[in-house]
Amino acid sequence: MNILILGGGGREHALAWAVMQNPKCDKLIVAPGNVGIAEIAECAALDILDGGAVVEFAGDNAIDLVIVGPEAPLAAGVADVLREEGYSVFGPSAAAARLEASKSFTKEICDAAKAPTAAYAHFTDAAAAKAHVRAGGAPLVVKADGLAAGKGVIICETVAEAEAALDDMFGGVFGGAGAEVVIEEFMTGEEASFFVLVDGEDVLPIGTAQDHKRVGEGDTGPNTGGMGAYSPAPVMTDAITQKALDEIVRPTMAEMVRRGMPYSGVLYVGLMIENGQPRLVEYNVRFGDPECQVLMMRLGAQALDLVQACAEGRLGEARVSWADDHAMTVVLAAAGYPGDYAKGTVIGGLDGLAEDSFHQMFHAGTVEKDGKVVASGGRVLNATARGATLAEARARAYALVDAVDWPEGFCRRDIGWRALP
Ligand code: AMP
Ligand code: GLY
Repeated sequence: MNILILGGGGREHALAWAVMQNPKCDKLIVAPGNVGIAEIAECAALDILDGGAVVEFAGDNAIDLVIVGPEAPLAAGVADVLREEGYSVFGPSAAAARLEASKSFTKEICDAAKAPTAAYAHFTDAAAAKAHVRAGGAPLVVKADGLAAGKGVIICETVAEAEAALDDMFGGVFGGAGAEVVIEEFMTGEEASFFVLVDGEDVLPIGTAQDHKRVGEGDTGPNTGGMGAYSPAPVMTDAITQKALDEIVRPTMAEMVRRGMPYSGVLYVGLMIENGQPRLVEYNVRFGDPECQVLMMRLGAQALDLVQACAEGRLGEARVSWADDHAMTVVLAAAGYPGDYAKGTVIGGLDGLAEDSFHQMFHAGTVEKDGKVVASGGRVLNATARGATLAEARARAYALVDAVDWPEGFCRRDIGWRALP
């Protein structure tokens, strides 16, 4: 089977690694890929937001299955174009991708499906939104309706902060994404990410994870795309998992079918859990990054069988074989991230790393320059490891971190602290 993966971050490196473990894969191309991916697969320059260009590339390269990593090509309808041309695609239609691309759409689906989530109100002008904030008081959460690269969610402790956030959003700080705004009740509890594959009405859980969004140790400082993750998430007990499936995932997926926009692909279910009750924080229509890295480390080669069954509408027959193991990934980022950071600093120590089915250094933002690996993004490397216990996975992940020679990089030293003694 010839496979094309769209994307070029740590998530796509982990997907490429798992796909390459499976003997079914004859050829793997990743567009655009990165330096780490280039060591295990062919990388290709391709405008992955251009459905026509992706179809042409898939035809020229005799591709049998396309796996879409990030949300932007999904929201742009790339999966739709590929499906119309007869390709097997892992990833939802643009209509179903609105579960990530529009927060008010997701809230409406939750209402129709009676799925537990934060109370909310939806606004298209600042005056009405501010009146709502003043009447209800703080704390609350102000969200740009559209895709804002993870930056469109502002947790407001006071009414003044909320009014400032509303001025920013309606003032165009997030471009078109902030033309509509959702204001939510602030939920307390513990967060977890739950990953399921979906094809229409069939839902298959494939794992849980927790990530660390704040840049600083002890979960302090500004939000990032994620500084590390571990799987499984201890808070996701069997009872909570069952409730999340019965009360949130299955009813909302049934509502999507009822509306004529069945979901197909991986669904990232962001949950807030308090007093034994899960509530939906958000849906994403793709794997999380870096959560994907720990899921792939645990699933290994079977990830391809599952992705293929999902893309071909055979999820009802698919089974996951669970190992009783744990995985952790630690993000190495460029100093200054998530603010301004230097690009082009040289990273050493990568050649000698011992990598196997328990240890992988996934690349997130690297390029090659004059024969050296240099940093090209904020989040640059993902030291990822698996073990019989989370403590073992942690020791292995940090051993990988310590083997890297990159003075201009940093990482959090406390990934997994909530789950470890
Ligand atoms: P989102 O982009 O919707 O995932 O939001 C980013 C983060 O903001 C989430 O992971 C939560 O930590 C937090 N968040 C979003 N909505 C709420 C809410 N209603 N109550 C509390 N925290 C929230
Ligand atoms: N790690 C969070 C995300 O991928 O959205």
